[in-house]
Amino acid sequence: MDISVKHQEMTTALANVIVLGIFEDDKSLSPAQKKVDTALDGLITNDLIKNEGFKAKFSDTVIVPTRLKIPADKIMLVGLGKKKEFDCNKLRELCAKIIKQLDKTLNIKNVCIELLGLKSENFDVLSCAEAISEGALISMYDFDKYKNKKNVVQIKKIKIITEDTKDEKAAKTGVNNAKIVCSAMDFTKDLINEPAQNATPENISQIAKNLSNDLGLTFKMYNKKQLSEMNFNAFLAVGQGSEAEPKLIHLIYKPTKKAKKKVVLIGKGITFDSGGLNIKPANSMLTMKTDMSGCATVLGIIQAIAAHKPEIEVHALSALCENMPSGKSYKQGDVITAKNGKTIEVDNTDAEGRLTLADVLTYADELEPDEVIDIATLTGACIVALGQNITGIMGNNKQMIKKIIETSEKSGENLWELPIYDDMQEMLKSDIADMRNTGSRFAGASVAGRFLQNFTKSKNWTHIDIAGTAFIDKPYRELNKGATAVMVRTLTKYILSL
Ligand code: BES
Ligand code: MN
Ligand code: ZN
Repeated sequence: MDISVKHQEMTTALANVIVLGIFEDDKSLSPAQKKVDTALDGLITNDLIKNEGFKAKFSDTVIVPTRLKIPADKIMLVGLGKKKEFDCNKLRELCAKIIKQLDKTLNIKNVCIELLGLKSENFDVLSCAEAISEGALISMYDFDKYKNKKNVVQIKKIKIITEDTKDEKAAKTGVNNAKIVCSAMDFTKDLINEPAQNATPENISQIAKNLSNDLGLTFKMYNKKQLSEMNFNAFLAVGQGSEAEPKLIHLIYKPTKKAKKKVVLIGKGITFDSGGLNIKPANSMLTMKTDMSGCATVLGIIQAIAAHKPEIEVHALSALCENMPSGKSYKQGDVITAKNGKTIEVDNTDAEGRLTLADVLTYADELEPDEVIDIATLTGACIVALGQNITGIMGNNKQMIKKIIETSEKSGENLWELPIYDDMQEMLKSDIADMRNTGSRFAGASVAGRFLQNFTKSKNWTHIDIAGTAFIDKPYRELNKGATAVMVRTLTKYILSL
């Protein structure tokens, strides 16, 4: 499916369908819509709005043939809802719905969407074109690799039409941004959806290496022996029950000019989380191939960053391993000395993510970054608190968190801050070590955050818990069910804004 911007009269556009947006509380037509209406002898104003009573409530649609009066076969009227409530996020969601609906409609291969009619006072041309394209591209994602019957996308071309030449440049930038971030999201989703039998530490490392070669990034990988020499003891403890060898991957994007800032991204990379000896019940284990979503996310982000080439140095790190029960597994009660020297009593082998992240946070300190962001499917407690459509964010810098949340509002991703209190360290007290790896049943997402804080020296550290949002079992807005690539959009935008 290709998306482009074209400066053209709507009445001359050659397409199977042209899409025109109408506001519920202001049904006056844009100049381009007026011309179409005139050419169609008042089909929009008279027939559809006046006689048929098209209300233009949000996501109302009606498709009518043009009977050869203009080159396009059909017009589709789309209700945009109330003008004040309409924003980029609504537009993105709406476009996803329209494109899905049209893709199922017979013989729709070319779609023209009028830009100006969809623009509102709440956003500019660039954001409008970006949202239209994101909606279309995100909605068409499907993981059919293992199906004999492939899902064929019928729509081949989407043209965003602008009758005003001065909008063309901004619209093109918007479309291009969307293409970059959506291809990164597709990459992330593919990796998350891939079964754990194939998405092993070894194979993901190879995928990351290939990605680095394609994008001209620096790639480093450390194997078990090297990691042991580098004191990644907490990470290695988690991986020791598995047949698969743990790997640490480190990708670096460096700008050609001197970097204004250095950002380190860390993604949780548990390629399968059985719980270890504290084995999970079957239902909870069912989706645990997705426990490397953080890793897939940081790889997606660095891919988008490499395409944008900002003057920011970006590092993507992930400690990849399997959490499995076996005769070699780490056990409850074991005491491990993390890379930074702090000792941890293993209270529960299923709280493995924070152990792997702990050592990577220490490694990140050595890179002397300006900012550190970790992304992890860390706690079931975060899902209990915020559900499947809101991501948890916490950390040690209010300003940084605020800025990331503000960016998420433009990306259409929901982020909500959870607190970390210093005295939560009490809950992590151990009788025989500096701390244990779990607290009580309560405030689980925050306590996990408090645990991680012990392992970073950065004053600008943010932790993002995507346990609920990385993989969803019901479609949400523009997202289909399955892997969502949540935070790829927000964090790419955030890094570009630094
Ligand atoms: N990977 C899980 C968290 C998770 C749960 C992600 C559901 C996605 C969906 C994590 O490793 C885990 O098992 N956390 C435990 C921690 C507990 C033992 C303190 C949890 O949340 O139950
Ligand atoms: Mn676990
Ligand atoms: Zn886990």
